[in-house]
Amino acid sequence: MKIAVIPGDGTGPEVTNEALKVLKAASEQEGFEYELTHYDFGGDRYLKTGEILPDGAVDELKEMDAIYLGAIGHPDVQPGILEKGLLLSLRFALDQYVNLRPVTLYPGVETPLANKGPEDIDFVVIRENTEDMYCGIGGFLKKGTPDEVASQTAIYTRKGCERIIRYAFEYTRKRNNPKGKRLTLVGKTNVLTYGHDLLWRTYQDVAKDYPDVEADYNHIDAACMWFVKNPEYYDVVVTTNMFGDIITDLGAMIQGGMGVAAGGNINPDPGGTSMFECMGGSAPKYTGQNVINPIAAIAAMGMLLDQTGHEESGTKITEAIKVVTGTKMESMSAGRMGYSTTEVGDLVCENL
Ligand code: IPM
Ligand code: MN
Repeated sequence: MKIAVIPGDGTGPEVTNEALKVLKAASEQEGFEYELTHYDFGGDRYLKTGEILPDGAVDELKEMDAIYLGAIGHPDVQPGILEKGLLLSLRFALDQYVNLRPVTLYPGVETPLANKGPEDIDFVVIRENTEDMYCGIGGFLKKGTPDEVASQTAIYTRKGCERIIRYAFEYTRKRNNPKGKRLTLVGKTNVLTYGHDLLWRTYQDVAKDYPDVEADYNHIDAACMWFVKNPEYYDVVVTTNMFGDIITDLGAMIQGGMGVAAGGNINPDPGGTSMFECMGGSAPKYTGQNVINPIAAIAAMGMLLDQTGHEESGTKITEAIKVVTGTKMESMSAGRMGYSTTEVGDLVCENL
C-alpha cells in the first residue's frame, strides 16, 4: 500500500507521528506492508516558495492508495489560502465526492449534551464534497462601489446528487444498525426549490433500490435542533456540501470536540484516492510541546485503513481508542490529558 503523508503545519507533524506509530503497529499485527511518501506541503513551504501544490503533485498523489493529512493553517498566512489551495483543490482534483464524518462519543469523553452517553451519540454524517456553494462560481459587479453586487452560485447536478445518495444508502445498509437502518437526508426543500428539488427527486428515485433502509428526511434547521436534543435518533445522515460543513462541526462538538473528530475525503470509485484528516486545526500555540491530543489523528488513520481494505485493523484501532479514552485519559483537551501526545500514541499501540 502506498500512502502519501502530508504532516502540514503547527501540531500537524506531532499528531501525524502518533498516527504513523499506530499504522506500524497495525501493519505488524495484521501483516500488511506499506510505503510512505512524505510531502512538505503547507504554510512554511508556501511562505518560502509561494507554492501550495507544486506542478505534478496532483498526478503523483493520484497514484497513491491513500493520503494522510495532519493539519494545515499557518499564523503568517491569511486564512483561506492554504485551505483553498490544498484541501479544497485536492478534494476537487481527486474527485473525493464523499466527506465521511463519524460522530462517535467514545467512552470517558465529555459531551456538552446533558444526560447523553456513548450509546446515544453514534451516527455518521455523509457530506457531499464537490458541489453546492463550494464550486467557486460567482462574481462581482461594480466592486468597491455603493452599487456593488456579488453572486455566489450553488451547483447541484443529477450525477452529483445521485452518487452521494447511493453511497449513503450503501453505507447505511453496510453499517446495519441493530436499532434499524435509517438514512436521513438533510436539506432545505421548502426554500431551495430548484437545487434541493433535484436533490429530493434523486433521493426518492435511489431509495427505491433500498427498501430495507428507512429513507427519512429533515430540514437543516430542524436537524440542528435534533442533533442536540435527540442525537440517538440518527443512524446515517446525508447532506449537501455547505450544510454538511456546518452540521459536521456541530457533530464534532457533541462527540467531545476537535481533539477526537476525524474525517475522510473519499473517492470510492475503483482506483480513486482518498484523503484522511483530523478535524482540529494546526493549533500553532501548542506546537512542539507534546501536549496536543492525537486521538482524532489516530482515528483518521483507522478510517484510512478501513477504506483501503484493512477493516479489521480499522475496527481494532477504534476499540483501542475506546480503551484509552475510557480508562486512561483524563481529558481530551491539550495539556490536560494526563499524558503527553506521544504517551497517548503509545497507549493506543499497547491496546491494539
Ligand atoms: C472542513 C473545513 C473546510 C471546509 C475548510 C477548511 C475549507 O471546514 O473540512 O470542514 O469548509 O470544507
Ligand atoms: Mn468545516
